[in-house]
Amino acid sequence: MDQYAVFGNPIGHSKSPMIHTFFARQTAQNISYQAILAPTDGFDSAVTEFFQQGGKGCNVTVPFKEEAYRFADQLSPRAKIAGAVNTLKKLDDGGILGDNTDGEGLVQDLLLHGVRLQGKRVLLLGAGGAARGALLPLLDQNPAELVIANRTESKAHQLAELAKAYGPVSGCGYGEVKPEPVDIIINSTSASLSGDLPPIPAEVVSQDTVCYDMAYGQGDTAFVAWAKAQGSKYPLDGLGMLVAQAAESFAIWRGIKPGTKTVLGELRRNLG
Ligand code: ATR
Repeated sequence: MDQYAVFGNPIGHSKSPMIHTFFARQTAQNISYQAILAPTDGFDSAVTEFFQQGGKGCNVTVPFKEEAYRFADQLSPRAKIAGAVNTLKKLDDGGILGDNTDGEGLVQDLLLHGVRLQGKRVLLLGAGGAARGALLPLLDQNPAELVIANRTESKAHQLAELAKAYGPVSGCGYGEVKPEPVDIIINSTSASLSGDLPPIPAEVVSQDTVCYDMAYGQGDTAFVAWAKAQGSKYPLDGLGMLVAQAAESFAIWRGIKPGTKTVLGELRRNLG
């Protein structure tokens, strides 16, 4: 049986083992998938041991995504731009491939909800690791513009600079966000986790604006609640992104892409 795993710290609440076990059943793949708690200063040795013992691939989550980036022998273009890796795969020659499926998971979840990015005006809130991971997959969809707005304005400019060869991207502070409707707003900030909201003008939301929070939780996140209060008909949280990034990783390892709808429904019921 081929072995897979997720490495993180903490890892106890990871939904990845449940998701991948579900995918394996759905696609009739004979694999095992376990959660591994690596010491904060021991990612390299834990993952080295895993591959030495025959592991075929793994996911990597907080706080090890940058270390996984350095661990990989080869990197996909999207992982290079992201500066972080959430998927490692042992190649036939013994080398380790590093990829990042987070941003593609976001794009796939938007598509699943019927949201296409091509030709759209997109506002990305935040310029941390989560935003950086999404940049290339978002620009690959050919939006009309991608504005990155961040509390620390210089970080928004830096990200825009990093990605400018890939599409029409610019950076600004929240104060410079134009008070007019955009098509899609994506919240990548960790503000939601503390119930905070990035201070953007309410006018960016019309009833047709898709408001996507990469975070999720029991009940509405602060951003989803705000989007609803502004009248958006399309408020979405990031649970679908979690499942979709897992499906992308599974496809990298097994060459077969599982469906996401059923497991998403199951997770949503478990969240309550
Ligand atoms: P992640 O990997 O989740 O993106 P990160 O790299 O620490 O985590 O980035 C956190 C992001 O959330 C940043 O864009 C941060 O803004 P700053 O760059 O100005 O720090 C943003 N953020 C965190 N708390 C916030 C808050 N209360 N209001 C607005 N933005 C916040």
